[in-house]
Amino acid sequence: SWQTVPLAPPDSIFKLTAAYKVDKFDKKINLGVGAYRDNDNKPWVLPVVKKANELLLSNPNIDHEYLPITGLPEFTSAAAKLILGSDSPAIKEGRVSSVQTISGTGANHLGALFVSRFYSWGGDKEVFLSDPTWVNHHAIFKNVGVTPKTYPYYDPATIGLDYDGLMASLNSAPPRSIYLLHACAHNPTGVDPTKEQWAKIADLMLEKGHYAFFDCAYQGFASGDLEGDAWAVREFVRRGVSLLVCQSFAKNAGLYGERVGALHVVSPTQETGARVTSQLSVLQRSEISNPPTYGARIVSLILNDPALFEEWKRDIVTMAGRIIEMRKQLHHLLTVELKTPGNWDHIVNQIGMFSFTGINPEQSKALTEKAHVYLTVNGRISMAGLNTHNIRYFAESLDQTVRG
Ligand code: LMR
Repeated sequence: SWQTVPLAPPDSIFKLTAAYKVDKFDKKINLGVGAYRDNDNKPWVLPVVKKANELLLSNPNIDHEYLPITGLPEFTSAAAKLILGSDSPAIKEGRVSSVQTISGTGANHLGALFVSRFYSWGGDKEVFLSDPTWVNHHAIFKNVGVTPKTYPYYDPATIGLDYDGLMASLNSAPPRSIYLLHACAHNPTGVDPTKEQWAKIADLMLEKGHYAFFDCAYQGFASGDLEGDAWAVREFVRRGVSLLVCQSFAKNAGLYGERVGALHVVSPTQETGARVTSQLSVLQRSEISNPPTYGARIVSLILNDPALFEEWKRDIVTMAGRIIEMRKQLHHLLTVELKTPGNWDHIVNQIGMFSFTGINPEQSKALTEKAHVYLTVNGRISMAGLNTHNIRYFAESLDQTVRG
């Protein structure tokens, strides 16, 4: 058996972490995976998570029973309110199906599986992904027999949004197409539509009957504000665009390895929602039976306790604030101190954990090979890997790479 199995390439993001770990160079920098680091390049266990953990450990009633198939109810209901709004009419009307998932990837998978089984496409069984997007989106949809297509998103000329290209795609796609949209802090570009642009996108999607498949992995990281970062999703719900949302707590709660997330499908009526929930349960049962408890219990404590919730918001401001500060410092180093050729304003204009530097694949590879700076070949850098100790070395390395 297996003699004919071809060798697969390593994952384009996680191979960087592995290579960084074995690199002996003292100034090495990992700007690959989107994982927050503090100013000393250490993983940051959020203080609020430490508190929730202590509460959990001191609770004598904690057991290790199975959760319901759709997950911890007090987690999924609070998670739905976090993204859709505590006063969301869709929640009040009982038309939101919420299922706990294996973080954002699991939510994307369950969502993709669900649409592959039950969506009635106007044309072929395909999904439109932004060009570029998180590499895993392509694999997740292919796995369930949905063909990934792309829509224009990033304009290399402006290092910004290709709004006209995006609208032209929405216009020309078959009616009732599925569009995957990043709810905020677009990965990998750090480029989001403005509110005005989102409103026009929603209008056009409504007109064409398109379905919005939202991925929300960075709520809190775009603006430092959980409510503000949920704006697009809530606006789409308000305007009546059909949608689902994939939600991750990996980044905003720093619970990467605990795999805590949720899928929320918004239906037109409560009765439809009940049928959707029933089918999601059947799919979940055959895939993972029931989701894991630990991360969901931690997040549930934080979301359902007003004091812990306020503390979490401050922790998010700490993370988002440090990233914004790194953007400012990098911009200053490149433009004022090093006078690096080119325009670097996108470093401060882009938002979220990532910045698309605009350097080409050869330059990205040179940065890794010559300077021991690990980044994806598309020129994406995780701003969270920069700190006051390594930012000058990075800026100088980037400057030399750009000068050739
Ligand atoms: C990333 O894009 O770096 C993160 O979303 C981590 C991952 O799973 O790829």
